[in-house]
Amino acid sequence: MTTTNPATATAAKISVREVTKTFPLKGEEFTALDRVSIDIADNEFVTVVGPSGCGKSTLMNVLAGLETPTSGEALVDGRAVSGPGPERGVIFQQYALFPWLSVRKNVEFGLKVNGVPKAQRRERAEHFIEMVGLQQFADALPKMLSGGMKQRCAIARAYAVNPSILLMDEPFGALDALTRVKLQEQLLETWSREKRTVMFITHDVDEAVFLANRVVVMAARPGRIYDVIDVDLPYPRTEDVRLSPEFGELRNRVWHAVYHQEPGVAAGTASH
Ligand SMILES: Nc1ncnc2c1ncn2[C@@H]1O[C@H](COP(=O)(O)OP(=O)(O)OP(=O)(O)O)[C@@H](O)[C@H]1O
Ligand SMILES: [Mg+2]
Repeated sequence: MTTTNPATATAAKISVREVTKTFPLKGEEFTALDRVSIDIADNEFVTVVGPSGCGKSTLMNVLAGLETPTSGEALVDGRAVSGPGPERGVIFQQYALFPWLSVRKNVEFGLKVNGVPKAQRRERAEHFIEMVGLQQFADALPKMLSGGMKQRCAIARAYAVNPSILLMDEPFGALDALTRVKLQEQLLETWSREKRTVMFITHDVDEAVFLANRVVVMAARPGRIYDVIDVDLPYPRTEDVRLSPEFGELRNRVWHAVYHQEPGVAAGTASH
């Protein structure tokens, strides 16, 4: 079954088609993703929520080119994903920083790989390090940072290479509430200014609704799409939007879909 956004069905930037991923588990096959299909349009912001273990990170890893589907395929710009690429910026659930590089060098890393000259690299890194508030730690090694600071460094590193697609796995999970709201607003601001296609995984239902054009709700055992909910709220998403009754209604709907899942239901058959 294909879940498409009708307005933009022809211009999918990301297309996941019947992707199944199994892992060997105690001599059997464990199905982490079961025929997952979703199209994400160019410049669309999609958030993914669902219970722990429902395959969110696995789905992201398939799109990042780090896991190969057992069957089905993932396409980016109409081409099958066969490995990582510079057009996809990835922020992992476990901030994957290079432990031997300073914050600055971590942020500069992708730019160096892309052949950006040193002075420009420095300047760009500086900008994003400042954006995430790590100026004072630019020369520190990751082991000297708290979890939230490591996460902010990973965010700066992903933003710095200016990818057209951002794949973000609970990027704000380890952050305090204030930093979290600040980074949500910055992300939306950058997204509306520079237009990117974003897949953003979160456990936080409020965050999922606040950011997205569409919220994908997944279910576990097997990992599958349970429901897809359109968020017809205007951007910019201001505090007024966050406090509006429409926001509340959508949040309740997503909450219900995440926390009161009916067994065996998959998208298309889920009741609203
Ligand atoms: N490399 C692997 N080998 C074996 N099993 C795996 C592997 N990666 C994931 N799994 C299994 O697949 C299922 C989905 O895992 P995944 O990390 O995608 O879940 P998730 O939705 O991201 O969960 P969480 O919200 O806790 O991050 C889990 O049951 C997990 O144990
Ligand atoms: Mg995960």
